[in-house]
Amino acid sequence: MAETLLLPPTTSRQEIYVSLLPQLEALTSGEPDLIANLANISAALKESFGFFWVGFYLKKGQELVLGPFQGPIACTRIAFGQGVCGHCYRTRAVVIVPDVDAFPGHIACSSASKSEIVLPAFDKNGEVALVLDVDSDRPDDFDETDRDGLLSVMRLIERML
Ligand code: SME
Repeated sequence: MAETLLLPPTTSRQEIYVSLLPQLEALTSGEPDLIANLANISAALKESFGFFWVGFYLKKGQELVLGPFQGPIACTRIAFGQGVCGHCYRTRAVVIVPDVDAFPGHIACSSASKSEIVLPAFDKNGEVALVLDVDSDRPDDFDETDRDGLLSVMRLIERML
């Protein structure tokens, strides 16, 4: 397993996603522990893009519970349908929020967070098993490049579910 990320000398997110994907595959292949892999994936995304907060909420019983993350401390439990994460869980769709203050019910774990993207990962039964939440301290910081790049990460995670 590679112990350091090799990142291209560019600010192009597209190029960074392309470079990161195979490294995430290498990092997680052969490791069966989901939490260990989610921990490294959150660290790799934080290191690669400098996002404000990167982390996972896992479906446990009837709510979402905080999993591995990188960034400031965050709320631990989110009800289905609540906040951006709960909305993603309910709708089973990627949610891009350019302005968190304009999203009804947004859960503000930090006032520094200005925009976010949340993506679902599905288990083998087609149920949402977890969501990835990425927060930025800049408004309108996520677009289709992030959606596509992070969807590839979710497909990688789904192989572990
Ligand atoms: N903003 C999220 C809550 C999680 S924190 O941002 C880490 C939401 O509204 O679901």
